[in-house]
Amino acid sequence: MQVFRKLVCGVCVSLNKHTGGVRTLSTSSHRAQSVMQAWVIDQYGDNSVLRFTTNAAFPVLHYPNEVIIKVQAAGLNPLDVNMRGGYGAATMAMKRDPLNINKSSSEFPLVLGRDVSGVIMECGLDVGYFKPGDEVWAAIPPWKQGSLAEFVVLSANEVAHKPKSLGHTDAVSLPYVAATTWSALVNTGGLNKDNCSKKRILILGGSGGVGTFAIQLLKAWGAHVTVTCSQNAERLVRSLGADDVVDYSSGPVERKLCDVDKFDLVLDNVGGETEKWALTLLKPWSGAKYVTLVTPFLRNTDQLGLCDGMMQTAVTIATKAVKHLSNGVHYRWGFFSPSGSVLDDVSEIVDTGKIRPVVEETFPFSQVPQAMQKVEQGHARGKTVVTIAEDRPE
Ligand SMILES: NC(=O)c1ccc[n+]([C@@H]2O[C@H](COP(=O)([O-])OP(=O)(O)OC[C@H]3O[C@@H](n4cnc5c(N)ncnc54)[C@H](OP(=O)(O)O)[C@@H]3O)[C@@H](O)[C@H]2O)c1
Repeated sequence: MQVFRKLVCGVCVSLNKHTGGVRTLSTSSHRAQSVMQAWVIDQYGDNSVLRFTTNAAFPVLHYPNEVIIKVQAAGLNPLDVNMRGGYGAATMAMKRDPLNINKSSSEFPLVLGRDVSGVIMECGLDVGYFKPGDEVWAAIPPWKQGSLAEFVVLSANEVAHKPKSLGHTDAVSLPYVAATTWSALVNTGGLNKDNCSKKRILILGGSGGVGTFAIQLLKAWGAHVTVTCSQNAERLVRSLGADDVVDYSSGPVERKLCDVDKFDLVLDNVGGETEKWALTLLKPWSGAKYVTLVTPFLRNTDQLGLCDGMMQTAVTIATKAVKHLSNGVHYRWGFFSPSGSVLDDVSEIVDTGKIRPVVEETFPFSQVPQAMQKVEQGHARGKTVVTIAEDRPE
């Protein structure tokens, strides 16, 4: 889809503290609201740190390319559970305040929730691609306040028009896994709609959020897709188009996979032991790639600090890449990358009917802790979703 997004680089506009300065930045600014309802955390920990409040700070436009979205539905990912426990805190603090100017700043109260589907409420003056009332979706970068709230502010470059064929509850199951999968397969793996038809792809962990999206995207692009998952997820992944399914729960999956033809790309959503054997399943000396989404990057910076953590990360990836290159295969790490224009493309594919949402369970806004617990239990079948509008805790 040819979209004409106005890309605006981050020009900082200073705000008048007393008025909030919103009128200098937005196209419509008639709101009197200064607080909103949200689920927040005030410290890292288990599910008990989640707190419902009617007093969360209302989001403010800090840049003229930002929009405020009224949240209709929010999606949860394993990252939310990890972030609740403090995962990635060092890197997120650096992303929020790169020059460490605000020494007394704290990330708390922190709002989790990485997917949003909702309605544009207010646009910065440089935003031409959206207008108030537009139905949109987005994947929220983890260093920004999340979607378990009535409103969220994002850069317009991170937002896209929601697929017309989906309601908010279904739509919200896709943005974060779609942006992650796209980044891993397209940016890192080098795949696209025109080069997949003769490729054999293996997805390790095919029944969760990323896996269920990846299967459908790759089938829409004509690839042959093999998936590992537990036996009771086989029906689901086959219904999404998986050609071959291997059950990892009934014996070593690597033994079963070494008997099949080799692959052009492996997408690893499982990590750990898989790295020991997954690269041997690739076609050597053919440009074949192993892309894993389970990386030590954030763990390293949490444990060693930013500088040493990044150094350790660079050494690890370089060592592994060189080691595997000597065997004729490419070793890569995949990362979530926010992008409105990717979501525009995904929206278009969804509206053709080639990708459908896979929602495991939907919770009302009053039951965010239960929703988080569901994600924490693992063994997801698609995504866990929270509906925000029309349902409030007492
Ligand atoms: N690097 C990044 O930026 C980034 C971004 C997004 C996600 N991730 C990571 O990517 C991973 C997948 O994310 P997700 O959202 O898809 O998680 P998810 O929804 O929780 O799905 C994980 C799936 O893996 C399956 N599974 C567990 N152990 C397995 C094994 N040994 N072999 C095959 N399948 C197995 C589980 O289903 P069964 O019941 O079938 O076992 C589950 O459906 C997570 O580790 C997440 O943290 C990283």
